[in-house]
Order: sequence, then structure tokens, then C-alpha cells
Amino acid sequence: MFDFDTPVNRYGTFCTQWDYVADRFGSADLLPFTISDMDFNTAPCIREAIQKRTEHGVWGYSRWNHDEFKGAVTGWFERRYGCSLDNSHVVYGPSVIYIISQLVELWSEKGDGVLVHTPAYDAFYNMLATNGRECLASPLEKTGGTYEVNWAQFEAQAARPSCKILLLCSPHNPTGRVWSRDELTRMEDICSRHGVKVISDDIHMDISYRPYIPWPAIAANTDWALVSSGSKSFNIPALGGAYAIIPDSESRDAFLTRLKAAHGLSSPSILGVIGHMSAYNEGEAWLDA
Ligand SMILES: Cc1ncc(COP(=O)(O)O)c(C=O)c1O
Repeated sequence: MFDFDTPVNRYGTFCTQWDYVADRFGSADLLPFTISDMDFNTAPCIREAIQKRTEHGVWGYSRWNHDEFKGAVTGWFERRYGCSLDNSHVVYGPSVIYIISQLVELWSEKGDGVLVHTPAYDAFYNMLATNGRECLASPLEKTGGTYEVNWAQFEAQAARPSCKILLLCSPHNPTGRVWSRDELTRMEDICSRHGVKVISDDIHMDISYRPYIPWPAIAANTDWALVSSGSKSFNIPALGGAYAIIPDSESRDAFLTRLKAAHGLSSPSILGVIGHMSAYNEGEAWLDA
């Protein structure tokens, strides 16, 4: 039904993966496998939606704060993961790491600790270091064919007075661990007992062979945010756009004040908004294929 076999020439498209090899690695003669994007076209429904909008030709300021965008996100979680979310809890941001970085700044002070399962996605380390937060590592232990949490060590880190946030990656990059309900519940229990808020980066949620369980399905309070995007699943990161579910209204307002007033980012990339709505409303068959 979908063509995943015809090679697409990405050279000369200003793409980070293939066009900037020499710039990134000091040698042009390398096969780059470092950026997590795909070399085939995105879903036909997204291409058509983008084409339709580009034909319009007027690129005035746009909006994300409407039920078409927020409902596309909540509809996806409901249909794919049986997880009911409130449209009013959905906020937009230009990228996943931008949103996480703002929440880290809102929920902790300089010098505070952020608990992270390691190894971790390199942007986590860079973002925490640049924001003056200490990365409190909880090394995953390789046992048999998988990676396991060392629970005593994880709790000892969570119990440190400086630890304010668990920055979870669910499913986990780079180990590929898809957390079980038991593991998530255990993390939830430890974080609740020690007053540690949770930021769950679920950008890899859609490409998983084991059942992925969103944090809201096990959360026992509102001290969390789920941050995600259709960018990985549908290969649309260059369209721009990500979102978060933030159930606590004060945290949500504080995030939106940063987005709009402090950083002047209230108008989203319309192509990112359209890309997400099309992906989440019409892209299931392509993703399954
Ligand atoms: C776990 C994780 N979070 C976030 C990102 C990047 O997301 P964004 O470009 O929207 O900041 C990646 C990209 O590889 C990732 O692996």
C-alpha cells in the first residue's frame, strides 16, 4: 500500500544527515547513521496536506491553541494507547528538548539535581549542563538480553534533597527499553514519596514492539508532564513542532508564559501544526505499515 523501497536522494536538501557529513565529522567519505530520521518519504496524507497548504501562498501568523490540534493529539493517545487526556492540558512547543528545558527551569533551581537513567540521549546531558542542573545518573544494568533499573540506587538518587525531577525517556533511548507497568508504577511510587516531579519524554512511543504505557496511565498525582511529537514516528522534524501534556494548571500557565512572553514563540510553524494533525488523524495505516 505504501512505498518504502524507492530510494529518495536527500543530497542537496539542506538535510543534516547527508549534506553536512564533512562539517560534522571532518571527513565527507562517511556513512552517517547518527541522526534519528528516516530516508524515505513521510505518509502520503501528510504530503498532501502540506502541498494543499503550500499552494495557498499566504504565510501569516498562525495558532496551535485550537481543538483541531489538541484533539488530534488526544485522539491519538486514546485510539493507539487507550489513554484519555484532556484537550485543555495540551500545550505546543517548537521542539521536545525546548519544552523539557523550560520545564526543568520551572521545576528546579540552578544546582538542583535531575535524575536520569543512563546512558541517555546526549541532548539531555547538554541541556542539563547548560541550564546549571546536576545530572543524577541511575545507570541501567545490562542483564541477559535487556537493561534493568538498579532500584536501590535509583531510590537513593531520588531521595537526595537536591533531586527535584526525574527526566524519564519512555521508551528509552538509547537502550530501547519499553518500560513495563510495574517499572513505571515503581518509579511513580518512589518519585511521589520523595517529592520528585516527572518529565516523561515519549518521542519514541510509536515505534515499539512491546506495549508502551504512557505516564498518565499510571500517574497518581499531577506532578508530571508528558512531552512528545510526531516528528520521529512520521519523519517530520524539519516541519517543526512538539507538544506536552501538563495536567497542573499553574505549571501549564507558567510554561505558556515562557513560550509566549519570555521567548516570543506563540505563533507555531503552520506546516508543523498541519503535519501533526494529518499524522494523528489520518496517518495510522502508514505508521502501521
Ligand atoms: C529521546 C529524544 N528526545 C528528543 C529528541 C529530539 O526531539 P526534538 O528535536 O523535538 O527536540 C530525540 C531525537 O533523537 C530523542 O531521541
